[in-house]
Amino acid sequence: MIKVTNLSLDYPASGISVLQNVNFSAGRGERIALIGANGAGKSTLLLSLVGVVPPSAGGVEINGIPVLPKNYPEVRRLAGLVFQNPDDQLFMPTLWEDVLFGPRNWAFSKQKHKARMPIDAGSMANIEEKCLRQLEALGISALKDRLSHKLSGGEKRLGALASVLVMEPAVLLLDEPTAFLDPKSRRRLIAILRELTCPDGSPQTMLVATHDLDFARALCGRAILLSGKTVHTCGPASAILDDGALLESCGL
Ligand SMILES: Nc1ncnc2c1ncn2[C@@H]1O[C@H](COP(=O)(O)OP(=O)(O)OP(=O)(O)O)[C@@H](O)[C@H]1O
Ligand SMILES: [Mg+2]
Repeated sequence: MIKVTNLSLDYPASGISVLQNVNFSAGRGERIALIGANGAGKSTLLLSLVGVVPPSAGGVEINGIPVLPKNYPEVRRLAGLVFQNPDDQLFMPTLWEDVLFGPRNWAFSKQKHKARMPIDAGSMANIEEKCLRQLEALGISALKDRLSHKLSGGEKRLGALASVLVMEPAVLLLDEPTAFLDPKSRRRLIAILRELTCPDGSPQTMLVATHDLDFARALCGRAILLSGKTVHTCGPASAILDDGALLESCGL
């Protein structure tokens, strides 16, 4: 579902080379933790999977589709990214409008030849029902009509997650999903992510950048450790996360 081949990523404006020659793949239903010290390139790698940071060499495929500008709409429909900073994700006046935004736009784009036509009442009711269920699942229904930019850090994070999960992405990319969450919300999130399935019932494929190693242990079967601008180690999560000497040698 995710294939990364000889990928190098730079920020040319600042002359920073972040990753060099990264290779890995994720199969259907795999849950993979992406770990590494601050600045190791985890967020940059996730951004490259949806074409926000283009590669300087090598490439990425999502479900066999190359992540190239001509394929961005399709890739971004398949792969949903929850940004590290929820302020980058929530941009509508209220949380409800933020969560509605994706499904409503998708319904508009499906009727592209009649773009000025409103979505019919039945379809809109289904979309709203789905959005309400998503807010309920994350325990944030009460925040529905609140101003997005005035939510707390944890509330924003759950809101951003709801806006992505409601789109039922085939591949879920999460950047520090437990940051700012209180213990109860964190436990709820772990439970939700463990149970998450695709509409066809298969387990949700996900790649999760995190510093929360207990969270990674509870959720992921495999881990990728970034260090020295590349994949330092990739293997069973339990083996990597329990290897204190390895983690310490990579700045964790
Ligand atoms: N937009 C940008 N322009 C220039 N350099 C950037 C940009 N974004 C990130 N960087 C640099 O790229 C490197 C990797 O950053 P990145 O955010 O991918 O790391 P990270 O592993 O996600 O770190 P953290 O654990 O702190 O979230 C860092 O040195 C960072 O300063
Ligand atoms: Mg990051």
